Amino acid sequence: MKHDFDQVISRVNTACEKWDDLQNRFGVSDAIPMWVADMDFTSPPPVIEALRQRVEHGIYGYTYRPDSYAEAIVDWVKRRHHWPIDRKWIAHSPGVLAALSTIILTCSQPGDKVIIQTPVYHPFSRTIKALGREVVNNPLHLENGRYTMDFADLEAKIDSTVKILVLCNPHNPVGRVWTGEELTRLGQICIQNNILVVSDEIHCDVVYKGHKHIPFASISEEFADQSITCIAPSKTFNLAGLQTSCIIIPNENWRDRFNQSMNSLNIGSPNPFGILAAEIAYREGEEWLEQVIDYLQGNLDFLIRYFQENIPQVKVIQPESTYLVWLDCRGLSVTTDELDKFMLNKARVAMNEGFIFGEDGAGFMRMNIACPRSIVAKSLRQIEDAVHFLCRA
Ligand SMILES: Cc1ncc(COP(=O)(O)O)c(C=O)c1O
Repeated sequence: MKHDFDQVISRVNTACEKWDDLQNRFGVSDAIPMWVADMDFTSPPPVIEALRQRVEHGIYGYTYRPDSYAEAIVDWVKRRHHWPIDRKWIAHSPGVLAALSTIILTCSQPGDKVIIQTPVYHPFSRTIKALGREVVNNPLHLENGRYTMDFADLEAKIDSTVKILVLCNPHNPVGRVWTGEELTRLGQICIQNNILVVSDEIHCDVVYKGHKHIPFASISEEFADQSITCIAPSKTFNLAGLQTSCIIIPNENWRDRFNQSMNSLNIGSPNPFGILAAEIAYREGEEWLEQVIDYLQGNLDFLIRYFQENIPQVKVIQPESTYLVWLDCRGLSVTTDELDKFMLNKARVAMNEGFIFGEDGAGFMRMNIACPRSIVAKSLRQIEDAVHFLCRA
């Protein structure tokens, strides 16, 4: 079946953050929302059909995770990422961030240090600080439009109080799919220093042609033993609101501790729609996923050409994964402080400001292109008009 991602479907009045919370978050209601990381596309049809039947049943009481749910996850990870996982390694969490908080609480002490690689998904640093741990930045290195890890800086910053490194694999917002070589080097440093790697792989299924996601833990038994991997169907199949994620913990000791914490916090119980949608998506959603990746690639090609031809002051950091595009806007004649206001108030496009991902993100904007191409085109025209006005002023 061919899916029509060009169709514009209104999300207004569905209590969705992206559209309905715009006034509250950005102080405007007429900007085009290209921010929070979900898609303006409907989920795979088999998921919608399964949920419809479940809704019609009418009883939504306490739910457990059937064996078939875990089997669907095991099959998916093996089929899509060639990583054979044992069912018993799988732990559960409503969302990846809830899991991250639990891991930090369980696997470190107040005052310990946690490393992140900025610019990176902004809730990482907020969460670490809120839990009384210290954030250590290991900034990524940008050269010729491509980000790489800075291993010398990483090694220089490690001391005995560093307990955890949060890896974003693939990386939001810079779009890198880390290579086996990069992951191996990173893992060796962490193993030598007894640092637990939390590999947030929530974006692992949306990867563009020519790149291949490698689960950190799949590299060796030692890596598996020293890491916790977070995956979810939320970005892949646009199910973020159903708050269902899967935490893969091969190390029995870490796993027991994680499960005990989730139990003591009483946050492990699933909702019936989340686990059903996840299972069906992993079993029957792959054809839809391939089509959505093709469509996103088309949006990306269109956007890159548009910037090159019409707004060359903005450089696109070409993503290898994710539908989030990291825009280097430092060539525009606006200060980094004014950039977000310029994009919002002059271009009327609501994106995420780069500085929230770390101070090295200043001068950048993150644009979500998981929407019909006509909306991408409209937002680009608005940015172009604003930039032309700026150049004339
Ligand atoms: C890298 C990354 N991790 C975690 C999340 C949030 O996951 P969840 O909604 O499951 O907490 C996001 C959402 O954008 C993300 O990009």
